[in-house]
Amino acid sequence: MAKDINKDEFPEETKLKLEIFAECFREWLPVFLYNQYIKKVFIYDFFAGSGLDSMGNLGSPLILLKEAKGENCKYCQSVVKNNKEVVFAFNEKVKSKSKYLKKNATIFLDSCKEKNCNTDCIYKLFFENLEFQEVFQKDNFKKVLNNKNFGKFILLDQYGFSQVDDQIFKELVNAPKTDFIFFISSSFIKRFKNHPSVKQYIKTENLDFDEKRPKECHRIIADYFERLIPERKEYYLHHYTIKKGSNYWGLIFGTNHTLGMEKFLSVCWEKDKLSGDSNCNIDNDYEAGSLFHDVNETYKKQKVKEEIKQAIISKQITDNISGLKMVLKKRCLPELFTVVIKELEKQGIVKRIGAVNNSSTNIHKIKEYQIKFEDK
Ligand SMILES: C[S@@+](CC[C@H](N)C(=O)[O-])C[C@H]1O[C@@H](n2cnc3c(N)ncnc32)[C@H](O)[C@@H]1O
Repeated sequence: MAKDINKDEFPEETKLKLEIFAECFREWLPVFLYNQYIKKVFIYDFFAGSGLDSMGNLGSPLILLKEAKGENCKYCQSVVKNNKEVVFAFNEKVKSKSKYLKKNATIFLDSCKEKNCNTDCIYKLFFENLEFQEVFQKDNFKKVLNNKNFGKFILLDQYGFSQVDDQIFKELVNAPKTDFIFFISSSFIKRFKNHPSVKQYIKTENLDFDEKRPKECHRIIADYFERLIPERKEYYLHHYTIKKGSNYWGLIFGTNHTLGMEKFLSVCWEKDKLSGDSNCNIDNDYEAGSLFHDVNETYKKQKVKEEIKQAIISKQITDNISGLKMVLKKRCLPELFTVVIKELEKQGIVKRIGAVNNSSTNIHKIKEYQIKFEDK
């Protein structure tokens, strides 16, 4: 049985995971709150825990509530003004933990009310005490999940690996206006890949772990999930490896919108300026403070820049929008495309035609231009 995460103080690695959840949600919420086409917003924390650790540090459900207020209550005020409905659903299988969470959330909201607006919380909170798979299969959840007028943020902080299986992943990927983030014990899958209890959930014959590169096991797991995405579907997946001792855990984030991916990438690249995907210098780059450290020329950035350059030269990429999206797919910040195209232009290899611009953020709003080759 897994050790109860809420019984002790959260270790540093758990705090990092929670920080990423918080920052990811902080980026996500305003996008959906201010979108006039989204009628309701649903936030699901399916493995919610009891809300606090033994030292009173906030667990994921209270972190989400804290973030939902925004600076000077700006989000609560916007919800009132725009008459939007925002629902938080917290599920926790263990009855005593679910009860404790309800109590902790009530204390949290009472204190928020006292410190801030002196009115009852505008958000609707629901607490469930069920097996995740049971809630996920419920009709009322499926109706929300598949409703394209509802924005959904789904947090799946499972123990181990067995709850988010291929089927659940595919349903999440196919759900409209839905971003999700889940946690998975990648080292465990690697270590026990031939064990029937693992094979039951993950087709481990499709996992190609490199024994010489143990740091990369979570990348391999992320690639496994990426292969489950329907071909030709525009979809973005990113991951973040969390090393603790000799073990590797990780997060996997999914979105069908470029803006969702831009925002999650910016959270991750802010934390890991070398590769944007780990707390353990996954590509063995020169670290900050060492003689050859150059944050613009890390292994991953150099590799992706070269791949974009080749894609432009081979005419696989003929406009800026496909170039920017290619960089997102390669899990780097889209500004790398702009660096490469400007360099090729400076060298007289290509010219840009049409609505030429150097924008690299908010890709869905950027004007498209064409890339042509200079006549020699
Ligand atoms: C990693 S902890 C989540 C901690 C929480 N996110 C936090 O920040 O405190 C996983 C939680 O999921 C609960 N859990 C385990 N299996 C579950 C299942 N099948 N369905 C729902 N909850 C489950 C556990 O009791 C535990 O509290």
